[in-house]
Amino acid sequence: MSAAIRFDDGAAYAQYMGAWSQLIGAQFLDWLSLPIRLDWLDVGCGNGAFTEQIQARMQPARLAGIDPSTAQLDYARSRPQLEHAILLQGDAMALPFADDRFDVAVMPLVIFFVPDPARGIAEMVRVVRTGGTVCAYAWDMYGGGFPYALLADALREAGYPSPAPPSVATSRPEVLQTLWQAADLTDIELRRFDAQRSFASFDAWWHIATLRSTTRERLAQMDTATRNALQTRLRERLAEFSDPHGQLHLSAHAYAIRGRVL
Ligand SMILES: C[S@@+](CC[C@H](N)C(=O)[O-])C[C@H]1O[C@@H](n2cnc3c(N)ncnc32)[C@H](O)[C@@H]1O
Repeated sequence: MSAAIRFDDGAAYAQYMGAWSQLIGAQFLDWLSLPIRLDWLDVGCGNGAFTEQIQARMQPARLAGIDPSTAQLDYARSRPQLEHAILLQGDAMALPFADDRFDVAVMPLVIFFVPDPARGIAEMVRVVRTGGTVCAYAWDMYGGGFPYALLADALREAGYPSPAPPSVATSRPEVLQTLWQAADLTDIELRRFDAQRSFASFDAWWHIATLRSTTRERLAQMDTATRNALQTRLRERLAEFSDPHGQLHLSAHAYAIRGRVL
């Protein structure tokens, strides 16, 4: 079994997670309520799901994104809206930018993947000007906020647990708050955002939910009876979210945090 979550398919990510990210991202941008034409940095921009929302909504003067995954970056670079964005391979813990370069730095659904989150936040503070905004949002992994929590539970019960992000504890709102306070940010605010997404049927959900490569690998390792039992169990558990037409209406939630650089 592979030990880590991999981001190796930007198109699959768009269906599996990007659509969920954008449901939170739209509310998050409303909440930030920042003026247009600022300089933005998207840390862990992935396949550009949220970067595209920044471009569309905030008309940034400059827009940069970094991500370690070439597959994600390839997809982000293929988005017509991002043709002028600077999209670089990089790590949140060593941002490839000079000090005081941006007005806003954001980590959308990323902080729990950063091995040393405090260092990642310190890097965002370093590259953002005084008075600028350092912000993030993260699924509430321990509070049932992850969109695929039921699938993760069923895989674990079947003896095929999914790998956890290396810094999953940062998804707790109180840990986010502590990290932002320790980074010497001011005017810190925390907010919960809920998202609802509909799927045409259980089979449509199953197709999308199992696009992640580590999930596909676990399914391939199972014998047919185990795989069928897992699918049946999930079909039963998701029935409560089904409408009379068989459509599924599912929820997720994330905590967002913002602070201002002193
Ligand atoms: C769940 S995705 C979020 C992508 C995008 N921000 C979004 O909202 O859809 C997490 C991303 O974090 C990236 N990532 C993982 N480790 C990272 C690190 N140390 N620094 C920056 N990004 C990282 C992954 O490659 C992946 O694209």
